[in-house]
Amino acid sequence: MSKHGLTACLVFIAISVSAVLAGVSQTKHNFTSATYSPNAYFLGTNQVCVYCHTPHNGSLTMGALYNHQTNESQPYQMYSSSTLDMTISAAPHKGSLVCLSCHDGTIAVNSLSNLPGPQGAGNYGSPGGSALDANGRLTVASDAFVGTDLRDDHPVGVLYDASRDPSGFVAKTGIATSYPDKLLSEGLYVECNSCHDPHDNTYSNFLVESNATSQLCMRCHTK
Ligand code: HEC
Ligand code: HEC
Ligand code: HEC
Ligand code: HEC
Repeated sequence: MSKHGLTACLVFIAISVSAVLAGVSQTKHNFTSATYSPNAYFLGTNQVCVYCHTPHNGSLTMGALYNHQTNESQPYQMYSSSTLDMTISAAPHKGSLVCLSCHDGTIAVNSLSNLPGPQGAGNYGSPGGSALDANGRLTVASDAFVGTDLRDDHPVGVLYDASRDPSGFVAKTGIATSYPDKLLSEGLYVECNSCHDPHDNTYSNFLVESNATSQLCMRCHTK
């Protein structure tokens, strides 16, 4: 790579990371801060990203250098309905498991594979805020508690196939940057990260885009 190319690339990375940093730091996903996450924060902590990422020894199955403890064998009650046309997997895929690892309430929010410094796995800081129990797990006291029963939530683990209901759904384009493809997790599934970006609360509820006039819904549904 030319020197200019490299400089441009480094500047781009620095801007991307600082945009993410500014984004996450001022949201409820900043667990170091009683100001930004008043219901769920950890005393004696200062690293924002470490709850979800580590520079080394990240999870290979979850990707994105994932650092939060996940329980891939946790059973979930998946959405079901007589009017579903597409196939729902027996378990959510990683685009949902990364969220459920905190939001199902079974694992402490501060339970990490790789703590800052040389300590290895463990819990980072001590819990504060009304949404956490003494072990640091999210409880039903939080509006953000999802639990392990997903029957009352938008279906996840769905293999998106509009041909099963062409009048109800927007067909895939095969182009990763166009709708609905750009919302599909791993290019295939409807998962939590189809609709949510955990770094960015611009549209509230960490939505990937505004849902005014149900715009987000209509990226996939036609009615
Ligand atoms: C609450 C959890 C959480 C926190 C905190 C968090 N991230 Fe992430 N991050 C994720 C998840 C989940 C993904 C995977 C996203 C996906 O697959 O859609 C991800 C992906 C990424 C990626 C890959 C590109 C992308 O956006 O998909 C980068 C870069 C990143 N995070 C940087 C950061 C930085 C820097 C911080 C701290 C300022 C941070 N993240 C804090 C959950 C988090
Ligand atoms: C490391 C733990 C952790 C991970 C991973 C995580 N969250 Fe959260 N999330 C929390 C906690 C704790 C809160 C704050 C709960 C409260 O204030 O009651 C929260 C809050 C939220 C909120 C509410 C925001 C608001 O403004 O009220 C949404 C929406 C959300 N998370 C979605 C997600 C999604 C989607 C993912 C995956 C892409 C995810 N979270 C990943 C722990 C996590
Ligand atoms: C099809 C899109 C979609 C999917 C998939 C989705 N969400 Fe949401 N989620 C939304 C919308 C839209 C809202 C805002 C609802 C509102 O304003 O009342 C929301 C709100 C939330 C909230 C805020 C609390 C609440 O219930 O209002 C949490 C937490 C949350 N989602 C977590 C998740 C998790 C975890 C998953 C995966 C298991 C998930 N979401 C999957 C669209 C989605
Ligand atoms: C990323 C694509 C996508 C987005 C965005 C999306 N959905 Fe869905 N939705 C689906 C798929 C796929 C199914 C499963 C359809 C099937 O199997 O027939 C589904 C199922 C549903 C169902 C259950 C239908 C049934 O027959 O039981 C409802 C209700 C629903 N979505 C509402 C919404 C709403 C409201 C929004 C906006 C907040 C939304 N969806 C956003 C893809 C999406």
